[in-house]
Amino acid sequence: MMSVRVIVYLLSTVLVVSSTFVESRALLQFQDPSPPSTAPSSSPVPLAPALFVIGDSSVDCGTNNFLGTFARADHLPYGKDFDTHQPTGRFSNGRIPVDYLALRLGLPFVPSYLGQTGAVEDMIQGVNYASAGAGIILSSGSELGQHISLTQQIQQFTDTLQQFILNMGEDAATNHISNSVFYISIGINDYIHYYLLNVSNVDNLYLPWHFNHFLASSLKQEIKNLYNLNVRKVVITGLAPIGCAPHYLWQYGSGNGECVEQINDMAVEFNFLTRYMVENLAEELPGANIIFCDVLEGSMDILKNHERYGFNVTSDACCGLGKYKGWIMCLSPEMACSNASNHIWWDQFHPTDAVNAILADNIWNGRHTKMCYPMNLEDMVNRMAR
Ligand SMILES: *[C@@H]1O[C@H](CO)[C@@H](O)[C@H](O)[C@H]1NC(C)=O
Ligand SMILES: *[C@@H]1O[C@H](CO)[C@@H](O)[C@H](O)[C@H]1NC(C)=O
Ligand SMILES: *[C@@H]1O[C@H](CO)[C@@H](O)[C@H](O)[C@H]1NC(C)=O
Repeated sequence: MMSVRVIVYLLSTVLVVSSTFVESRALLQFQDPSPPSTAPSSSPVPLAPALFVIGDSSVDCGTNNFLGTFARADHLPYGKDFDTHQPTGRFSNGRIPVDYLALRLGLPFVPSYLGQTGAVEDMIQGVNYASAGAGIILSSGSELGQHISLTQQIQQFTDTLQQFILNMGEDAATNHISNSVFYISIGINDYIHYYLLNVSNVDNLYLPWHFNHFLASSLKQEIKNLYNLNVRKVVITGLAPIGCAPHYLWQYGSGNGECVEQINDMAVEFNFLTRYMVENLAEELPGANIIFCDVLEGSMDILKNHERYGFNVTSDACCGLGKYKGWIMCLSPEMACSNASNHIWWDQFHPTDAVNAILADNIWNGRHTKMCYPMNLEDMVNRMAR
């Protein structure tokens, strides 16, 4: 149980953070909030009471619509193939992996923390705190403008938890949280917007291996903090092969769409360390179910066997400008291809809905390729049901 001091500390940090957000919300009120995303019918008996999402643009579903940042997906053609055919803040033409997984769990699409009213009934089946540009390191992504870092997202979750405790009592709230699934997808911006930019001379001071150790141990500490708030079921996704993203193909002058190996090597190393960290942590924390899903493994399988998956455009983004459409980010509908579904990449950094569907299937049950260790999400939720 948390000591009173810890609770007071958490509450005070939450208050500071939330008042900042109230301000930014008020400031940005003239901006049209994204329409509520309602999921197609979900099954009557969910396999978990809620899905909570923490991360970066790979899973942001609208947080950044409320922030002053260049990292926004609140305009078409973003969302053109989504259920509502409207932009929502998702960095894809359609759904992101957590949309597919919410449906698998029998839950509705998870609302973004800043996009809902704060009523307990809106948050009870899950909240998405993810913010594009966010990293494990507080300042990663700062050159884009505002974002909500990993630590701040967890502070927001403690705020949600307090609401649950006030509303349903401590025992019921604890029970609810410990049965819910937490999905964490973060870390790539610590490369894109920190290490690879050589912020604070980091490049000189740390070898990738040391930087990776630092990231993995910071992530470990944050998972322990969640565990102390009674979180027990966690999915960590690892990093995507960002060295194959159109932006880096353009920036590093790839001749024929070959991936930038030095960038992918860092992601492979991060995934290796994080998988090992997750294995150890699962033993260290009694009752914890933590799985690691290697999206790099799953994505490389898609890139290699793209024809089998129905993709014939593997290195060019659907939306953007310049070689590989990796030079200028996706800003307007005229910059988009007509049919994203045969593309792997939607914009200079993010995959298409079609890729997100495959990755989500792999996380759920390893349908196309095994990605999760020591088990898939479906096995994890079935195990908790027993
Ligand atoms: C990183 O920045 C420092 C100065 O801040 C510079 O001395 C160093 O050469 C840079 N490293 C690379 C690889 O650009
Ligand atoms: C991919 O396939 C579509 C039709 O399925 C075709 O129109 C398009 O030209 C192809 N693109 C490439 C780069 O082969
Ligand atoms: C887009 O491409 C996919 C796969 O090649 C195809 O099944 C679908 O019919 C196409 N959609 C449109 C609107 O052309």
